[in-house]
Amino acid sequence: MSEQRIWIRGGRILDPAAERDEPGDVLIEGGVIVAVGAKLDASDAQVIDANGAWIAPGFVDLHAHLREPGQEYKEDIASGGRSAVAGGFAAVACMANTHPVNDDPAMTDFIIDRAKQDSPARVYPIAAATRGLEGSEMTEMSALVEAGAVAFSDDGKTIMDGGVMRRILEYSKTVGSPVITHGEDRHLVGEGVVNEGPVSTKLGLPGNPAVAEDVLVTRDLMLAEMTGAHLHVAHVSTKGAVAAIRRSRERGAHVTAEVTPHHLTLTDEALLGYDTNAKVAPPLRSKADVLACREGLADGTIDAIATDHAPHAVHEKDLEFTEAPPGLIGFETAFPVVLDLVRGGELSPLELMRRLSTNPARIIGRPGGSLAIGAAADVAILDPEMNWIYDPAKGYSKSRNSPWAGQTLKGRAIATIVAGRLVYDVDRGVLYP
Ligand code: DOR
Repeated sequence: MSEQRIWIRGGRILDPAAERDEPGDVLIEGGVIVAVGAKLDASDAQVIDANGAWIAPGFVDLHAHLREPGQEYKEDIASGGRSAVAGGFAAVACMANTHPVNDDPAMTDFIIDRAKQDSPARVYPIAAATRGLEGSEMTEMSALVEAGAVAFSDDGKTIMDGGVMRRILEYSKTVGSPVITHGEDRHLVGEGVVNEGPVSTKLGLPGNPAVAEDVLVTRDLMLAEMTGAHLHVAHVSTKGAVAAIRRSRERGAHVTAEVTPHHLTLTDEALLGYDTNAKVAPPLRSKADVLACREGLADGTIDAIATDHAPHAVHEKDLEFTEAPPGLIGFETAFPVVLDLVRGGELSPLELMRRLSTNPARIIGRPGGSLAIGAAADVAILDPEMNWIYDPAKGYSKSRNSPWAGQTLKGRAIATIVAGRLVYDVDRGVLYP
């Protein structure tokens, strides 16, 4: 635990857990928050000037691909953790589609150990729901939870066998962890690489219809209702899925959901120039889908914003559109991109912070998302007005696949504190480890 004493002075405190939105200071000592309020005095502490900035709980990302072990040329736990804190994330949950797959407690242990040594961000492994992500044999869920897995998912691949999904959901109740669904019916997706509609026709590329998501998400919602298990819907992208989640929640199901910054702000028209950096799974959708996702996030149907940070190497993205792998890097751009919802008047700053920190921490049952006295000092200091040009080569990810590369973004994480230690500062960069 760090011995740093940090006085964050004169910012706008946004603590969703306490419904607090007011000017003030935060004092950190011994890894925890020791005081929050107006005009604290701690003249012997390290001062961070937060004038004009927001002071919020460090972001918690429910969905990232850190690629270690097996694809360290795209990312590893160290580079991913560094990129995360540079975006204001104090914690990230990482998906199991590594090589080998995280379907074994020894692998979960490895990720946790590696993160302790190498990552400035907290890292929470999500274990595979089925062995090898093959969709048939369940993993040893209780042993994986004991090793530290926070949830189960075959993300990147849909569990197509409804009987297997039902058993996973049933078993998940005994271990008390959510099951995260990648809801795309693979048969309906077929060879589809872009949203099916006028854009796929214009591009002459095979379409992936919205109904592929609607059908699968609806199946999993019905199974969650039947079993009473906690289902978490990853990267919601369709109007139909938002409506289905809303109805299911109204019926009392234990369902939570996330949406990515890209599905909140970009439509399939971003692909008209065949930019493979905007190729993702599920694909960018129509304007109506984007609006439904925004509405769902604002009305609470969708709980959290998650990046789906998915690094791929330049040589992999530099292929024919159909051949390039789906995914984009998202930690360092998430905050400025989703600020669009505050600018559009759809979310208050406090509600945006809730969806980036308090709600995701609650979904996986981990600390974070609160600036309460005694809480772990995970804090993001954010300048909502800063204009900067995003250059992935100057960022911390090993990969460059971002559709926002070269753009002027407004809003930036200017400092990140994890467990009471200042790990990132916009002027000096990542400071630890
Ligand atoms: O765009 C995506 N990339 N979606 C996924 O579900 C998987 C991910 C990856 O692993 O690259």
